[in-house]
Amino acid sequence: MATTRRPRGILIAFEGIDGSGKSTQAALVAAHLADTRARHILVREPGTTPVAEAVRRILLERGKHAPGPEAEMFLYLAARADLYRRVILPALARGEFVLSDRCFWSTVAYQGRGLGLGVSKARALSLIATCGREPDLVVLLDLAPEEAARRRRGKADRIEARGNRYLAEVRAGFLALARRARGRAMVVNAHASPDMISLKILARIHALLRRRRRAAPRRGRG
Ligand SMILES: Nc1ncnc2c1ncn2[C@@H]1O[C@H](COP(=O)(O)OP(=O)(O)O)[C@@H](O)[C@H]1O
Ligand SMILES: [Mg+2]
Repeated sequence: MATTRRPRGILIAFEGIDGSGKSTQAALVAAHLADTRARHILVREPGTTPVAEAVRRILLERGKHAPGPEAEMFLYLAARADLYRRVILPALARGEFVLSDRCFWSTVAYQGRGLGLGVSKARALSLIATCGREPDLVVLLDLAPEEAARRRRGKADRIEARGNRYLAEVRAGFLALARRARGRAMVVNAHASPDMISLKILARIHALLRRRRRAAPRRGRG
């Protein structure tokens, strides 16, 4: 067919502070996609590739060799750049769903805002790492830091160990990003039950798919 379009996958990211339910919800969407035989991959940031998993260990481990704020941000960016080049962008080019546990929003909220390195700088540097690709949808699981800490049962990595005041700032950073992203983000009250939250997320994904089909009626099986 003369009008063949390159298949374009859908990138869905799950955001929120640790303990907000990102991994739980990403797994529920992955299970739904598997049920419907939709091709998909599940990735996490930082991590997934060997390089990015090595960087993750450096970032999250508590100890006396912790990187400073700038080094911390660049390590997150390096992990992201490797993941996008090697895994995410190729999967999207194949037309697959990519479910990402965290995305560049975390760099904007934790380092740009939380550590004071600058929100717009963190965003601009992140977009270099993703080759300009932003998620089609960010699901923000919004939860009070105190409740998130209860769910983590006291376990905290190096970042989360910065405490509730820092995490409240991060949470505000996420909410500001969601306000800016408008149609490309949904804020979910993460205090609700996992099943209830999942229903809302799946409804939103189906709405996104319907919009896509209307915009490109020939895409899909054809
Ligand atoms: N909606 C929810 N209500 C209560 N507990 C939840 C909910 N979602 C997840 N949990 C539990 O909270 C903990 C953290 O969830 P998880 O999905 O690992 O969060 P994250 O990946 O954001 O750190 C897990 O023990 C999980 O079973
Ligand atoms: Mg998780």
